[in-house]
Amino acid sequence: MNLAVFSAKPYDREYLSLANTTRGDPDSTTHTITFHDFALSPETVSLARGADAVCVFVNDVLSAPVLSALHGEGVRAVLLRCAGYNNVDLDAAEKLGLLVANVPSYSPEAVAEFAVALVQTLNRKTHRAYNRVREGNFNLDGLMGRTLHGKTVGVVGTGKIGLAFARVMRGFGCRVLAFDPYPGEAFREYGEYVALERLLGESDVVSLHCPLTESTKHIINGETLGLMKKGAMLVNTSRGGLVNTESVIAALKSKQLGGLALDVYEAEGSLFYQDHSAEIIQDDELMRLMTFPNVLVCGHQAFFTEEALTEIAECTLRNLDDFFNRIPCKNSLVKHGHVLVRAQTLPVRI
Ligand code: NAI
Repeated sequence: MNLAVFSAKPYDREYLSLANTTRGDPDSTTHTITFHDFALSPETVSLARGADAVCVFVNDVLSAPVLSALHGEGVRAVLLRCAGYNNVDLDAAEKLGLLVANVPSYSPEAVAEFAVALVQTLNRKTHRAYNRVREGNFNLDGLMGRTLHGKTVGVVGTGKIGLAFARVMRGFGCRVLAFDPYPGEAFREYGEYVALERLLGESDVVSLHCPLTESTKHIINGETLGLMKKGAMLVNTSRGGLVNTESVIAALKSKQLGGLALDVYEAEGSLFYQDHSAEIIQDDELMRLMTFPNVLVCGHQAFFTEEALTEIAECTLRNLDDFFNRIPCKNSLVKHGHVLVRAQTLPVRI
């Protein structure tokens, strides 16, 4: 199969090329891979011509017009090298008969551990200490944190990542509360399910681990921020659209919100994964966020470990093998011709 990879970074080239030749499945095939360093968009879709499948990432555009254009170029499969699929119009893909498959789980611990790193950095202010000490300033004023042991942590979404996060926070000696419209038995070992309102009112740290859907968009807004414990910390490693940026800026200014750590950002599409250091960044809300001493922004890197990249590359190519061999792809997100769906296991869109 010819596979066109969009938004390809050096590490994508390395890990996908390696997986293409070294993965050990008996059904595996070596495919022809073309790498494009630019994103898939209405402007670049014609460069998929000649490909049987495209491989995309979180900020590639897979709207109905782009999917239709891909189909017109002869593409029949869209392989996401990530778990989230909020950037894909699945209804349009299904109507076109395109296979869409993701990598549903690739080291949930990688993301959970990063969320924990953000909590600890923001809490103990090691990002500020690092800069201070390098300038010979060993003053501790302004660096005081809070002992996490005994604090209450709220987990919104107890899927694979939320569960891994809850397990680590429980290990810190925290009391863990969770909200999930589809509670799972596995979480009950680490904490208690409560209503979102109670979670927000009692948690010292709130960490978001639910997918971005129509109903979770701006789940953190003026109203829900108002329900949070005054001075609590908010962590978002899930999707930027879960948080209303204007509202968090207001909550930080009024000190209702005591700290904010973001690995994802609502308008990240035009900024993240690129070097803009020599440009004037036009996003005033992001720039305002970065002026707060109690805000930490990272560029969507929670997944970024060697183990996760290996699993992402191998699973993406296994999905392509299934498509090539015309066997049901267990990671398919759509009903597609001969390919059976795993509709029962899809995160329910509420
Ligand atoms: P998952 O599908 O295993 O779990 C999601 C959970 O959220 C499910 O239990 C679901 O019932 C729950 N949920 C759905 N609607 C909800 C709502 N309204 N309120 C609370 N919970 C709700 O997904 P997984 O693997 O745990 O990933 C979670 C999210 O993390 C993904 O959707 C993705 O957006 C994000 N992610 C971010 C990465 C990064 O590098 N920053 C890497 C990988 C995933």
